[in-house]
Amino acid sequence: MERKIQKIAVLTSGGDSPGMNAALRAVVRSAIYNSCECLAVYQGYQGLIDNDIRPINARGVNNIINKGGTILKSARCLEFRTKEGRQKAFDNLQKHQVDALVVIGGDGSFTGALIFSQEFNFPVIGIPGTIDNDIHGTRFTLGYDTALNTVVDAIDKIRDTASSHNRLFFVEVMGRDAGHIALNAGIGAGAEEVLIPEEDMGLNRLLDSLNRSKKSGKSSSIVVIAEGDKTGENVFEIAAYVEKNLPHYEVRVSVLGHMQRGGAPSCFDRVLASRMGVHAVESLLKGHDQMMVGIVDDRMVLHPLEDAIKGKTPINKNLIRVSDILSI
Ligand code: F6P
Repeated sequence: MERKIQKIAVLTSGGDSPGMNAALRAVVRSAIYNSCECLAVYQGYQGLIDNDIRPINARGVNNIINKGGTILKSARCLEFRTKEGRQKAFDNLQKHQVDALVVIGGDGSFTGALIFSQEFNFPVIGIPGTIDNDIHGTRFTLGYDTALNTVVDAIDKIRDTASSHNRLFFVEVMGRDAGHIALNAGIGAGAEEVLIPEEDMGLNRLLDSLNRSKKSGKSSSIVVIAEGDKTGENVFEIAAYVEKNLPHYEVRVSVLGHMQRGGAPSCFDRVLASRMGVHAVESLLKGHDQMMVGIVDDRMVLHPLEDAIKGKTPINKNLIRVSDILSI
C-alpha cells in the first residue's frame, strides 16, 4: 500500500562535492512545489542521531545553487553503523513525523541508507554526490564535471612552469579507487601519461614512454596519477624511481588534494543537481523506495540502491587508447 508522503527530510553525507547545495535546493523546492514539508538534517547521519533536524523552506535555499560544499555540513558517522544509532535516528524521524528521507552522498552513504531503509521499512531515495563518478547506475555523479575542470585548470598552470623549466611533473588526483578523474582530466590537459588503478601500466612501460617523449623532442612532460593507482607505493615513490632511472629529467610532484572537492559547481553540475533533486522527490511521491536517482543517455532514471553500492562504473577503455595515441 502506498503511504502518503507529506514530510521529507534531506541530508548530505560522505565526501562533499560541488553540486550538493544545488541538489538540496532542488529537493526542498520540489517538495514544497508538491505541497510537502521539508526538514533539513545537519551533519549527515550524525545529525539524524543527535536530532539536529530543522524545517527548511524555499527561501532557506536561496543563493546556494552556485556554492560548493554543503550548507547542511557532512560527516562520516560511525554511530550510524550500529543498530542503536540507527534506532535513535529512526526515533527522531518519527518524532518529526517525517515520511521519507533523501540522502545526497556516495556509495558509503548509500550503504547506510539501504540498511536503515530495510531495518525500519522507511522510504529512502539516494542522489549520487561524489567527485569520483564511480557509482554504478548513473553516467555522472554530482561534482565530477566540476572536479574535472578544477584538475584541468590546475594542470594547465603546472604545464606553464614545467615547460619553463624543462621539468617532468607527476600530478596526483583524487578518485579514491577509480581512475575517471585522472583519465579524463589527463586527456583534457594533454598529459603524456595517465596512471589509473584499472590499468596496470607498469613502471618499465612508463620509463619507455617518457624516454620516447624525450627523444621526440619534448622538453617537459606531465604524468597524471590517480591516488588509487597501484603502479608504485605512491606518487613520490614513482617520481623517485623515474628520476633515478631517467637522470636527464628534472622531476617534481604536485598532489592536488582536497581543492578538487571545492569550488563553485559547473553549469553542468548545477543542471544535473536540479534534475536529480526534482526526480528524487517525484519518485518518492510515486512510491519508489531504496532507489538511487541517476542519469543515463540524458534521461533521469532510478537504480536500485543495492546495486548502486555494489557496482563501480567501468573505465572507458577507448579513452585509454586515445590517451596513448595523443601522447606520442
Ligand atoms: O570520495 C570522494 C573523495 O574525495 C575521494 O576522491 C578521496 O579519496 C576521498 O574522498 C578523501 O576522503 P577524505 O575527505 O575523508 O579525506
